[in-house]
Amino acid sequence: MKRKCALVTGCAGFIGSSLSERLLREGYAVIGIDAFLHNYDRWVKEQNLRNLLEHPQFRFFERDLRTLSFSELISRVDVVFHQAALPGVRTSWGTQFQEYVDHNILVTQALLEAAKDSNLNKIVCASSSSVYGGMNGPTEETQAPHPISPYGVTKLAAEQLCQLYASQFGVPVVSLRYFTVFGPRQRPDMAFHKFIKSVLTGQPIEIYGDGEQSRDFTFIEDAVTANLLAANSPLTGEVYNIGGISRLNLNEVLSMIESHTGKQANRCLLPAQPGDPKHTFADIRKAQTHLGYDPQFDIEHGIRLQIEQVKSLYNI
Ligand code: NAD
Ligand code: UGA
Repeated sequence: MKRKCALVTGCAGFIGSSLSERLLREGYAVIGIDAFLHNYDRWVKEQNLRNLLEHPQFRFFERDLRTLSFSELISRVDVVFHQAALPGVRTSWGTQFQEYVDHNILVTQALLEAAKDSNLNKIVCASSSSVYGGMNGPTEETQAPHPISPYGVTKLAAEQLCQLYASQFGVPVVSLRYFTVFGPRQRPDMAFHKFIKSVLTGQPIEIYGDGEQSRDFTFIEDAVTANLLAANSPLTGEVYNIGGISRLNLNEVLSMIESHTGKQANRCLLPAQPGDPKHTFADIRKAQTHLGYDPQFDIEHGIRLQIEQVKSLYNI
């Protein structure tokens, strides 16, 4: 049987690199694109790519999707996993917004435009729980979106473009609304990564607000599995909540990090940040029913693995 070929945009990032490794294990050939955006250190992204670059079925191109022509590229693949974006909720205000628009909206539109005339089986787009804004309980995809950060606005626009190209031109695309993903390779600007590093090195931990904000934390392997399920599903034009099995607040997360590292956290309370929802809570029944999505990994498991990865990354 012919080997399936996937394009992974943002392949040097947290989710893109983990997904690329899984695709190779599943027998895909993978073409990966990344521009090493400045959102965090290039050497961290190079570490993410290390195993991939040794794999004979992985081809990497350092390219900026804002200026790349998608048509030739997608003619060579069966499926696209579009993970590239400028992420981060709290940094999307002010003059940075232009970059969010370029990377998150315009690039997605260029991909969809090229996909109109292609033979792609599927495009799986990374969306975000931030399209909802705050949540008071389990939230279904039918809930009207109310983003409260400029980043959330760009992810919603990208998602709506996907639905538009699916309905108007039959582009086979689905969007996955990830809920705060954690585990090895989590971005250095995200809470678990910062907290683990600071606890291990005795640095103060900055908590935005009172630490009582909660998240539906999703382990990286579950988010990766959702991508494979979505790629293989016949359904298109849909959006899916991809949440995990652990909802906790930050104070609970910190206690868990303390107990697994055997070190005390030095907490420093700062004001709550604009754009941050107080709580997130995924209702994942649609992904369960349509895709067979069934998250497996709890926070204890994921935190242990992430602590080991952070220690190894920084030689702590
Ligand atoms: P990341 O920053 O680690 O990875 C994104 C990668 O895309 C980066 O390596 C970056 O260099 C690359 N990239 C961005 N724009 C590019 C461009 N124009 N050309 C080429 N490369 C480009 O982020 P992540 O946490 O892995 O997020 C992946 C996707 O998932 C994003 O779309 C993000 O919005 C979404 N998401 C992430 C989370 C999470 O918890 N990590 C939650 C919800 C949604
Ligand atoms: C994460 C990703 O970073 C976004 O890209 C993504 O879109 C979003 O999930 C999502 O689910 O859609 P966030 O939930 O803010 O965003 O994830 P973290 O950066 O890990 O923050 C989690 C919580 O910890 C937030 O309440 C944040 O304010 C808090 N935090 C973070 C701190 O208190 N201190 C820090 O140093 C960092």
